[in-house]
Amino acid sequence: MWIFGYGSLIWKIDFPYEEKILGYIKGFDRRFYQLSTDHRGTPENPGRVVTLLPSNGDSKVYGVAYKIRDAEIQDVVDHLDYREKGGYEKTVLKFYPLSKDKQPFDITIYLGDHNNFNYGGPAELKEIAKQIVNSSGPSGPNIEYLFNLANSMRVFFPQVHDEHLFELEKHCLNLLNKETKNV
Ligand code: BEZ
Repeated sequence: MWIFGYGSLIWKIDFPYEEKILGYIKGFDRRFYQLSTDHRGTPENPGRVVTLLPSNGDSKVYGVAYKIRDAEIQDVVDHLDYREKGGYEKTVLKFYPLSKDKQPFDITIYLGDHNNFNYGGPAELKEIAKQIVNSSGPSGPNIEYLFNLANSMRVFFPQVHDEHLFELEKHCLNLLNKETKNV
């Protein structure tokens, strides 16, 4: 079994795996449209984390594929089902490795669709940024999640410009700079 990481699974790997490869899935956009009430926010003050939305075009979402050993599949899936219980369901899509000598293969993905109970939906980036800068939950500050994702993307995929992610990061940095100047 292969599992795709496109959010916290890119940097928070708290499960065993036998191999990891970089690549992408097609036909989706990564968006901060999912509310987080159990990791990066609370029910009273939800944070924002990523989910995948079907795109009109041929957009790619870059991320990491983890191969899980057969004997460990049940434990890993149980662990991730619990960790990602905030509205995500598993689905299977095609993964395209960056390396040209590897063939595409099926991969399991956690996806929160527009009907899930934690779907926050689109909003202006500056509003999403305000929410991120002002939220924190049991897993830590929401801004840490965004910075970890943006930094991991720069390290793993320096050739890829994820506009939604990097524009949101800019908005958050602006807000944080303003807060520092006002202290
Ligand atoms: C991830 O790839 O990190 C991920 C995103 C949403 C739900 C579960 C995992």
